[in-house]
Amino acid sequence: MNGDHDDGIIDDESALTPMVKRVFASTPDARLRTLVTAFAEHAHAFVREVGLTEAEFQAAIEFVEGIGKANTDTHNEVVLAADVVGISTLVALLNNPTEGGQTAAALLGPFWRGNSPRCELGANISRHETGALPMFVSGYVRDEDGEPLSGATVDVWQASPVGLYENQDPEQPDMNLRGRFTTDAHGRYWFETVRPAGYPVPTHGPVGALLRAQGRHPYRPAHLHFMVSRPDYKTLVTQIFADDAEHLSSDVTFGVVRSCVGHFEYREGTEADARLNRPHYVFSYDLTLHPGVSEFPTPPIK
Ligand code: BEZ
Ligand code: FE
Repeated sequence: MNGDHDDGIIDDESALTPMVKRVFASTPDARLRTLVTAFAEHAHAFVREVGLTEAEFQAAIEFVEGIGKANTDTHNEVVLAADVVGISTLVALLNNPTEGGQTAAALLGPFWRGNSPRCELGANISRHETGALPMFVSGYVRDEDGEPLSGATVDVWQASPVGLYENQDPEQPDMNLRGRFTTDAHGRYWFETVRPAGYPVPTHGPVGALLRAQGRHPYRPAHLHFMVSRPDYKTLVTQIFADDAEHLSSDVTFGVVRSCVGHFEYREGTEADARLNRPHYVFSYDLTLHPGVSEFPTPPIK
C-alpha cells in the first residue's frame, strides 16, 4: 500500500489514481482541470472494472490508430466512432434541452459540408435525374414564443434515394441534395427534393470492424438533416426521420428522438399546380430556435 507518501513514487497500483489526480489538480485552466481529472478517474475505474489485459490495451491502441489513419478529407472516421457509441447523441441532447419548446437537437454526423449552395425558396436540391418521386418540404422557423423568424438560414443535406450522400457517389453532381435557404418574412422555408433512403454508415474502417464484432447492423433510418441558424439564436442541428423508415427503432447511431419523427406523406397528385399534378411526397416540419450565440461546427469533411 502507498500509505500517506506523497513523494511522487508509486508503491503499487492503488497509488496511481490518487497521484494522477494530484498532478492534474495543478492544471491552470479550471475547466480543463475538471475535464482531465474526471477523464482520468473514469478511465482508471474502467481499466480496474474490466481488468483490462495487455492484449486488450494493445488492441485499443490499434483501434484508435486505425481511426486516425482512416480519416481523409472526404471521410471522418473519428466522428463516426463517436456516433456509433452514442456519445454524439448524448452531447447533442445534454447541450440542447427542450424545456423552452425548442426543437430537439441531433448529432451532426460526418457528412455535413460547409458552404453548400445558397438557394432560392422553392428550389430543387435534387440536381440530377433519379426517376424518384419528388418530395416537397416546408415549414416555419419560430422562436420559443411561436413568433416567426424571418431571415433564418435553413441548411439541409440528405442521402439520395439509394442511400448515398453526394460525396460518396460519383453519379451525383457536387453538392447534390444540399442547400441553404433563407426563411421569408413569415418565417417560412420550402424546397423540393427527393425522398431520402436509409443507408449503412461507412464500414470500411475500424468502426465497421467494431460493428461486425458486436453483431450490430450498420443502418440509419431515412432522414433529412437540418442546421438552422440566425444571429442571436443557438444554431440548431437536427434530423427528421420518416415514421415508416426501416431501422427506425435500431438506428446504429442511437439518433432517433421521438419528437423528430415526421411523416413523409404520399399524394397521388391531382392538384391543379403542374408541379403537384403527379405522384409526390409532402413533408412539413416546423423548427423552433432557442436564444443564444450563433456558432457553427467545424465541417467534418471538406
Ligand atoms: C448521418 O446522418 O449523416 C450520419 C450520422 C452518423 C454516422 C453516419 C452518418
Ligand atoms: Fe444522414
